[in-house]
Amino acid sequence: MAKLMHWTIGLLILGLTWLGWYMVGLSYYDPWSQDSLIAHRALGMVVLALALLKVLWLMVSPTPEPLPSHKPWEQKSSRLVHWTLAVSMFVIPITGYVISTSEGAAVPMFNWFDVPALFVADESTRDLAIAIHYYVAYAIFGVAMLHTAAALKHQFIDRDGTLKRML
Ligand code: HEM
Ligand code: HEM
Repeated sequence: MAKLMHWTIGLLILGLTWLGWYMVGLSYYDPWSQDSLIAHRALGMVVLALALLKVLWLMVSPTPEPLPSHKPWEQKSSRLVHWTLAVSMFVIPITGYVISTSEGAAVPMFNWFDVPALFVADESTRDLAIAIHYYVAYAIFGVAMLHTAAALKHQFIDRDGTLKRML
């Protein structure tokens, strides 16, 4: 379960960062501009739901201990990176939700159901949500690349099976 959620959330976050970057570059008249935003919102809400499930799952089944071969600074830095990534799974979609529902509109989920607006945000709250969504999404992309490079280094240079145990 933990592995399945890691890869589903991880790939969705990377894909949504690309989609977000792509869609804000489209002109209003581009045929994809509306559909890409609709898909971005719905898939982003899926990340939020999976992040909640992941926290519940962690209570049932805690993350395995780090490998004994990992030095204390590696354990500390990996914990910091994992925490940063885990917090972003909430911060990015929640700020996206605040932007999208700021005028009271619901978020449509694949023509299946709508996630209603819980509150109406004023302009300054909306602007703050846009700024956080923007900076955290791109910063997390950098952190995820560092995280990937570390996983590859452990797997192929240290040969300690770190990536393999996540597969
Ligand atoms: C696609 C490239 C990625 C690779 C190769 C990768 C690889 C790994 C590996 C090998 C671990 C296990 C580390 C250990 O056992 O100590 C891990 C853990 C973790 N990864 Fe990734 N990861 C990737 C993307 C992501 C992304 C995009 C996120 C979230 C934004 C993420 C979040 C986490 C978290 C929170 C953990 C801690 C373990 C857990 O709670 O599931 N990863 N990753
Ligand atoms: C983990 C999930 C998500 C990621 C990684 C992500 C990432 C991004 C990125 C990179 C951008 C482009 C920012 C820019 O260059 O200006 C963006 C824009 C946007 N996202 Fe997300 N997003 C996520 C979830 C959501 C959700 C759940 C919603 C709404 C329900 C949402 C709504 C929006 C909106 C409305 C914009 C355009 C903001 C603007 O007008 O500048 N996002 N997102």
